[in-house]
Amino acid sequence: MKSFAVYIESFGCQMNKLDTALVASALQDAGFRLAVGVKEADVVLINTCSVRQHAEDRVLSHLGHLKHLKEHRPDLVVGVIGCMAQRLGEKLLEHGAVNIVCGPAQIPQIADLICQALAQNAKQVAVTEKIRQPVQPGDGSLDSFELEHSSRDGQIPGQAFVRVMRGCNYFCTYCVVPYVRGPEACRPPEAVLEQVKRLADEGIKQVTLLGQTVNSYKYRKGEQTYCLADLLDMAPRVAGIEWVRFVTSYPADEFYEEILQVMADSPKVCRYLHMPAQSGSDQILKAMNRHYTAAHYLELIEKARTVVPDIAVAGDFIVGFPGETEDDFQATVDLTRKVRYKNCFVFKYSPRPGTTADKHLADSIPDEVKQRRIVELLAVQEQISGELNQAFLGRQVMVLVEGPSKKAHVNPTGSDDHPQLVSRTSTDHIVVFNGPVSLAGRLTQVRITRTSPLTLFGESS
Ligand code: SAH
Ligand code: SF4
Ligand code: F3S
Repeated sequence: MKSFAVYIESFGCQMNKLDTALVASALQDAGFRLAVGVKEADVVLINTCSVRQHAEDRVLSHLGHLKHLKEHRPDLVVGVIGCMAQRLGEKLLEHGAVNIVCGPAQIPQIADLICQALAQNAKQVAVTEKIRQPVQPGDGSLDSFELEHSSRDGQIPGQAFVRVMRGCNYFCTYCVVPYVRGPEACRPPEAVLEQVKRLADEGIKQVTLLGQTVNSYKYRKGEQTYCLADLLDMAPRVAGIEWVRFVTSYPADEFYEEILQVMADSPKVCRYLHMPAQSGSDQILKAMNRHYTAAHYLELIEKARTVVPDIAVAGDFIVGFPGETEDDFQATVDLTRKVRYKNCFVFKYSPRPGTTADKHLADSIPDEVKQRRIVELLAVQEQISGELNQAFLGRQVMVLVEGPSKKAHVNPTGSDDHPQLVSRTSTDHIVVFNGPVSLAGRLTQVRITRTSPLTLFGESS
């Protein structure tokens, strides 16, 4: 039989990229080949994100190209998987380019759907209404899919993601994730550890434990309740694992001290906390249904720095949430200055159909205002990042090397024959230095010789 080639593209978050890795591995196990581009492919899969309109627009524009391409290549099979597939369901099948629509909970069926589409050149759909209901105790299909296939995505040597929980129960009023990913479901600790062991056997050095609110991980087994701190304690004990990370954390007290304590006790737990505040205004936080105040958030950050003094904190903010006044925005700027993040992701509020905010609040802030606020907040953050990075000058740091730098840095260091490599510290700082490509996927020491707000530059030592 001819072996068909599949090209998979990811347009979403780390959870989305993990699904892409699993799907790629499952399809290879089912006899497909992976293509390096659309041109070489018999099947194109697009793994999509619905978190902001912009993310969906990018996919729609891509589908437009594929529709055009299909005029000359009518046999090309196009599948939309991921969160947008879940949100839009059958509607996507009306698009001239699309043959398959498969939501995040249906990915174990993807190979079958592709085979059917290839055989009949037919439209298929696998989005069920069941996703909004709690995962049925007997239905382990996603868990076994996850265990059967490798989540090593091969993009960054030596690194892999491991999902510890699915879905989200928080229902922040702006957010589509609980609707497209369903309610929170934690995987048993032994399943997580089994996967970490397999990845370590495949040569993985760093695992990133993933969950939308990963710090609320909780699994009851008999008398015992496992929390994220237990996973962070156990995962680095697996032979071969050097570093363990976790994202994303919700600002909450439950298990917080335990998590910080394992970080303080184990050099293998990365000193990095991604804990989005979303806003610095209590009024806006309330309207967002975030369960904390700015003062409480600051206390959490201070606690983190007391227990783990060298911790680096990253955050997310949304600007232009409905009703956000200039004072509310200044409260966000204020919080940013007080926290002194390593880096921040800042997004313009994007109304998502079906969410509480979209149903009850008008998108009242004009785009120019959102734009101005984003620029101002990023400028404040850039200054902070620049100052914090300067403290690295002259220091010796341990980094995990990702591979050759894709873009030529304006600040090249060293003058030897080796290419520029990109690497990261345990605190998630990006370090660029010259070194042999064979270092990719390995830990090494670098001495920092120059800094900028986004990047540290160094010399192999
Ligand atoms: N589960 C994670 C992140 C989820 S989505 C968490 O709770 O922290 C990633 C980021 O996208 C969020 O932190 C938020 O800042 C942003 N985001 C989510 N919905 C959005 C919307 N409707 N408009 C703009 N940004 C949004
Ligand atoms: Fe979305 Fe809030 Fe859940 Fe994060 S915690 S995924 S922002 S609903
Ligand atoms: Fe991730 Fe986007 Fe879905 S952020 S969970 S791919 S909506």
